[in-house]
Amino acid sequence: MLTIKNLEAGYGKVHVLHGISLEVPKGKVVTLIGSNGAGKTTTMRAISGMISPTAGEITLNGERIDGMESFSIAKRGLAHSPEGRRVFATMTVTDNLTLGAFPRLTGSRPKGDVAGDLVRAMDLFPRLKERRNQLAGTLSGGEQQMLAMARAVMLNPEVVLLDEPSMGLAPILVEEVFKIIANLKSQGVTMLLVEQFAAAALNVADYGYVLENGRISVHGEASRLKDDPAVKAAYLGGGH
Ligand SMILES: Nc1ncnc2c1ncn2[C@@H]1O[C@H](COP(=O)(O)OP(=O)(O)OP(=O)(O)O)[C@@H](O)[C@H]1O
Ligand SMILES: [Mg+2]
Repeated sequence: MLTIKNLEAGYGKVHVLHGISLEVPKGKVVTLIGSNGAGKTTTMRAISGMISPTAGEITLNGERIDGMESFSIAKRGLAHSPEGRRVFATMTVTDNLTLGAFPRLTGSRPKGDVAGDLVRAMDLFPRLKERRNQLAGTLSGGEQQMLAMARAVMLNPEVVLLDEPSMGLAPILVEEVFKIIANLKSQGVTMLLVEQFAAAALNVADYGYVLENGRISVHGEASRLKDDPAVKAAYLGGGH
């Protein structure tokens, strides 16, 4: 369970988040919807420790994680699949995935069955399986995006943050990504999802929050938000 209370964050003098509160309950998929520049990526960066919040509280399973270093937060089971294909270019697909399990291999997270999870990750992402010995830097953009997502799952996380996993993908791969998200959900993986395809995100999510200029404007059950006239007009029209 991830809980955020009155979170404020930004970049230097630029304040982006003006006190947002949200919850990602265990086993649920929660989506954060908002226009470009609303602060979705900034929210995820603040949660995973890539930037330091300036106010508010973030707790993971009851423990305060705001202000901790990224690696300490990852050790506690928070996995972040960041916006824009961040993979280790000069390492193979398999090695990238194994690195995702690094805290499990060094004993800072329960080890579990890393080898089995690697097999399961490859089964979930067949394109990565076919290319398991290829250097990540030579994968297509879409394949790198999938690798970033699969690597996050290899942490066996308490919560995974997915920032636009479908960005730049061909329509058929977008569909595949949403199937994978639904599959992870059925396995009980807890997720905070940001997606340009807001309607598809609300279909897979249990709950949603709308972020406008760094503030939550509306939130509710995903099924209810899908029918909310204001949400429909602003985010579920053509192109979303
Ligand atoms: N490193 C940075 N330095 C300064 N300002 C930044 C930085 N990163 C983002 N911003 C600003 O913070 C605001 C929120 O950006 P953010 O990336 O969180 O938006 P977003 O909701 O993820 O948008 P998108 O849908 O385009 O990904 C924007 O005004 C952006 O210009
Ligand atoms: Mg973003």
